[in-house]
Amino acid sequence: MADLLELFDELSGEPERFIDAGDRIVVFVLAHARPRGSAAGFDIRFAQVWTMRDGKPVVCEMFPKREDALEAVGLPKVGDTTMRTRLHDIDAVIADPPQVHFAPGGVFSTDRSCYEFIAGELREEGARTLETGCGISTVLLGRWSSEHTCVVPQPGEVRACRAYLEEHGQGGSVDFEVGPSDEVLPRLTGPALDLVLIDGGHGFPTPILDWYYAAGRLRQGGVVIIDDLQLRQVRLGLMDFLDADGRWERVESTGKWAAYRRLTAGNLREEWRDQAFLDAD
Ligand SMILES: C[S@@+](CC[C@H](N)C(=O)[O-])C[C@H]1O[C@@H](n2cnc3c(N)ncnc32)[C@H](O)[C@@H]1O
Repeated sequence: MADLLELFDELSGEPERFIDAGDRIVVFVLAHARPRGSAAGFDIRFAQVWTMRDGKPVVCEMFPKREDALEAVGLPKVGDTTMRTRLHDIDAVIADPPQVHFAPGGVFSTDRSCYEFIAGELREEGARTLETGCGISTVLLGRWSSEHTCVVPQPGEVRACRAYLEEHGQGGSVDFEVGPSDEVLPRLTGPALDLVLIDGGHGFPTPILDWYYAAGRLRQGGVVIIDDLQLRQVRLGLMDFLDADGRWERVESTGKWAAYRRLTAGNLREEWRDQAFLDAD
């Protein structure tokens, strides 16, 4: 190890995702290395599998390919090669993203760990998904779902995203609903959804409205992901209640996004008397 460290002027790493696999934990690590004497550094993505005993880590195995770590702990796979293909999809779309926003790189996006979570979550064929806002997630969800709806108010973003999808052989994979989510979502109907991504308007209380209308269409066992938790107005009035309400289970989160699994079904219209979590404190 000491020899290895001598090869670099800079070597640092941080966990991007923790995945529970019984008595083992898969950690996706993002490391940054700058070779000795070099001005330029590079990122490396790999995985560790920690074996736990009595709550303490006893063995750590390294996997240069993250999908191999998932396979090693026997996590359910989407299909034979699906997870592997999806991790490649993420690399490819991040490297060549749709140019839909006035943003550095042409797109505002969420963290890669969120896309990886979605990739692992959409295990069943024929998934139905919905998101507010568009970008990299739109391309990936269009690719991995059988019916994906994207709600976004800017016609220019929709044109750019449609053109990108056409050029990349994905024409028609996304239904765009053009308008602000508070106007569009209440009139959308259809079969229950498997996954909802809330990453549209970030002013208070838009994420709450998006949750109410879009996550209210989730099937039991479906998942809602809320992005940009670093913004107080996104967390406000939503996260405290979801964390306290036994009908939602937080399945994964980082400082930027959180995913909750819905343990019930049906719309979210209810009286306060039916909200046991209000008296939880
Ligand atoms: C952060 S970007 C979404 C990034 C995308 N999820 C990704 O992973 O690449 C935010 C998006 O929300 C859209 N947006 C803003 N206000 C909105 C609203 N009221 N309803 C729906 N979308 C909205 C913006 O036009 C923009 O496309």
